[in-house]
Formats: sequence, structure tokens, C-alpha cells
Amino acid sequence: MSLKSIQKEREYTKFVVDERLCYYESSKNKSEKTFVEELSLSLNQKHKSIDPKFFYDKKGSKLFEDICKLPEYYLTRTEISILTQLQDKLPTYMNEEFRLVELGSGSSYKTRILISILENMHKQIEYFPIDISKILKESAVTLLDNYENLRMTGIIDTYESGLDFVKNYDNKKNLIVFLGSSFGNFDYKPGLRFLDKINSSMKDDDLFLIGLDLVKDKDVLEYAYNDSHGITAQFNLNVLSRINSELDSNFNVDKFAHHAVYNEAENRVEIYLRSLENQTVNITKAGIALKIKQNELIHTENSYKYTIPKIKEMFSSTGFRIRDMWFDEKHYFCLILLSKNS
Ligand code: AVI
Repeated sequence: MSLKSIQKEREYTKFVVDERLCYYESSKNKSEKTFVEELSLSLNQKHKSIDPKFFYDKKGSKLFEDICKLPEYYLTRTEISILTQLQDKLPTYMNEEFRLVELGSGSSYKTRILISILENMHKQIEYFPIDISKILKESAVTLLDNYENLRMTGIIDTYESGLDFVKNYDNKKNLIVFLGSSFGNFDYKPGLRFLDKINSSMKDDDLFLIGLDLVKDKDVLEYAYNDSHGITAQFNLNVLSRINSELDSNFNVDKFAHHAVYNEAENRVEIYLRSLENQTVNITKAGIALKIKQNELIHTENSYKYTIPKIKEMFSSTGFRIRDMWFDEKHYFCLILLSKNS
């Protein structure tokens, strides 16, 4: 499929900021459910839930940044420590034809490490962040100020459609990165479907770098999601404030508590909002009067942790070949470099 036909299927508007920065913004696909439609469904089930993607409004994104700096939340600093050791290792798998494609916005320190690695190989670095959020536009400016030889093409769209866009953009090779164990927030089957999607969006010589959190001591895991400053609790509760402001509802945030436990059988941290009393919440825009019992749990997130055999099984069943794996000293976290198994 050519770029033109993708643009026809899903309309993109191209915005050229200057010769180093442009972005494509898609008009939403009509089949994608809206916030109110999704919530009306998920809160009306026997086991109530709110999709974790709704955590990330402006306040939620800021709270997540704060989580990443917490001493208990080892994931971010551990992944950074592995990335900084790839300065010599990653280039052995690439040449100067590669561009960096990131699933998620590019404001973070981790993107900078990757750009610095590419800087040693390229005269000009091309960076394509794919993100549904418009924060992308804000983070671009600082990044471009810092790297003179950087060119950015942002794609404001879902990861899936953004990947199609990149595949059909040109013949350049892509290093697709998905960091932070964000993949861990997918449930098992949707996760496999997502890996299939990434695989089918890759050209034969493309590479995929993914960061995954590993199974470890229960206490370390529960500590990471129940921090002593209560930032994770604020992050979790903020989704209710978001619903209040966007869907005209009256959740009383003080009547809910953050609850995070590690489920050893499923290898995942499960995160919930626990109702502190019997209550009824009106969500005006969804036309719902929601009855919630005392101690009832609203599920807000799963965060999966992986074993090496599971990692191998997941990637081989979705058509990948593991090219390399890198760990920190404690084997808390791992970065996996993959190519298509063709
Ligand atoms: C974004 N994601 C990888 C985080 C995680 O660890 O699952 C989200 C998070 N939820 C609570 N703390 C962090």
C-alpha cells in the first residue's frame, strides 16, 4: 500500500513547522470508540474496569513522570542503566540507513540516549515518534534544540496506524523502539496481537527494540506500585478526576483507595480503585447512575512481568528472531533486540 492510499484510508493532515520538524495528524477513524462509549461499557460490567490508556491526561502524564523518578519504581532507572551500556553494542546491528521510530512520545531521557547512539553513526538523524497525544509537538522543540543534526517527523495517531504509516513512508530501515515495559500493560492475547502487528509492519531489515520488566521478588514489585509518597495512588485516582471533568460525573476521589497487588499465578501487578463505602456515582455524559458497593474494586491496570522462557515463546510465536538481550546486574529488567524471522 502506498503512502497515498494510507492517507486516503485514514486522513492525515501534514503540518510543516520548519525544515527540521513536521508532523502528520490523523483524523480519527470512525470505528474507534470514544472515551464515553468505552467507559459506558467497561463500568457496566460485573467486574468494573477503566482502561489504563485513560490515565494519561495532562495531570496523569505528569504524575507518571513523577513515578518514574521514585526510588521504589526501579523500572525507569534500570532500563536507562541498560540503555547507556548499548553505546557500542547497538551500532553493531545497524548502519547509517536506520531511522529511529518510537512508540510513545519523545520527551524522555531514554530517547536522548538512543539519539546519542545514532549520532555516532549518522550525519543526520531521523526520528519518527508515534503518539496519540499532542504532547509530541511540545517535546519536539526541546529535542531539536539539543540535537542540531536531528530531523523529526511526528505521527499523531494510534501505534497500529502509525506503524502502517511508517511502513509505507519510504524504503529506509527502521529501528522501532517500545520502551518502559509499556508492553506489560497489554493483556496476554491483545499483547500477542500487537506483536503480530509490529512484525507485519516491519520490513525484512528493520529492527525492533523492546524493554520488558522481569518477574522478581513480590515485595520489590508491590513496593514499586505502592510508593511511600503516594504518587502511584494519586496517578490511579486521577483517572476519576479526569472522568469528572470530561464526562461530567461526580466521583468523590476521597471515597476510593489505591490498591495494587502482585498476582503470582499470572505474573502481573494488578491495580484497582477500591470503594470505601456504598455509593452511587452519576456520569451525566454517559447517562449512567453507577452503583458501587463498599470494598468493590474497579480494575484500572495490569502490569505484566516476564520470565525468559515466556519472552522467548512470545516472540517466536509472533514471527520474531531474538538478535540480542541485555540485562542489568540484578536481572530486574531486560532490553531485547529483534528482527523478523524471515
Ligand atoms: C506505563 N507503564 C509501563 C507503567 C507500569 O509500570 O505498568 C504504568 C504504571 N502504573 C503504575 N505505576 C506505573
